[in-house]
Amino acid sequence: MSKRWVGLAALGLALAGCEQDETKPNFEYAPDMVASVPYDSFANNPNTPDGKTLLSPAKGTVPRGHQPLHLVSGPEAAERAGVDLRNPYPSSPEVLARGQTAFLRYCSPCHGPGGVGDGPVTARFPMPPSLLAEHAVGLPDGRIFHIITHGQGLMPAHGSQVAPEDRWKLVHYVRSLQNPARTARKETP
Ligand code: HEC
Repeated sequence: MSKRWVGLAALGLALAGCEQDETKPNFEYAPDMVASVPYDSFANNPNTPDGKTLLSPAKGTVPRGHQPLHLVSGPEAAERAGVDLRNPYPSSPEVLARGQTAFLRYCSPCHGPGGVGDGPVTARFPMPPSLLAEHAVGLPDGRIFHIITHGQGLMPAHGSQVAPEDRWKLVHYVRSLQNPARTARKETP
């Protein structure tokens, strides 16, 4: 083979090498710089001041929508919620309108649009107690907030579907449904 053919063959090989198969990694120089090794969120990290990858919030940080009481489930916490929690939203026509929307969406299938326990689901589901009955009227606001958040007995929890502010607005709406019942009871001797 002449020198000229050898030269052409070498050029051909060099050009063939330029053809890229994007599914395969090419030669990587200093691969750690191309694909860095990440730290898992909860892994220890020697590079941060507190040794954690996910940095802790600054001291005294209060998340938005924070509830002062750590609202866990269970009857004891429900009792405590009734004592410790206050409805942070004053009642207003807008608050009640929002509460009504949420009530018709989330609660009326079981409790019925008026709260007496005659929702369409009750054809196949045990009838819930009336929210206008003395027992429900006597429940403190925080307790109702807890019932909506964590459920109670057969009632499922609504904490993941309904935002905390809407749960408080629901409490106002339940109170507005109960108002006539309260008034009626006050009138009976
Ligand atoms: C799947 C049906 C269902 C849905 C939906 C539902 N509830 Fe209930 N609710 C019940 C049942 C059943 C009970 C009785 C629970 C028990 O066994 O103590 C109850 C109990 C309650 C009580 C306590 C009443 C009392 O006298 O002890 C309140 C307050 C209440 N629900 C409010 C709501 C609100 C507000 C919503 C909407 C966010 C809602 N519920 C959604 C079925 C439901």
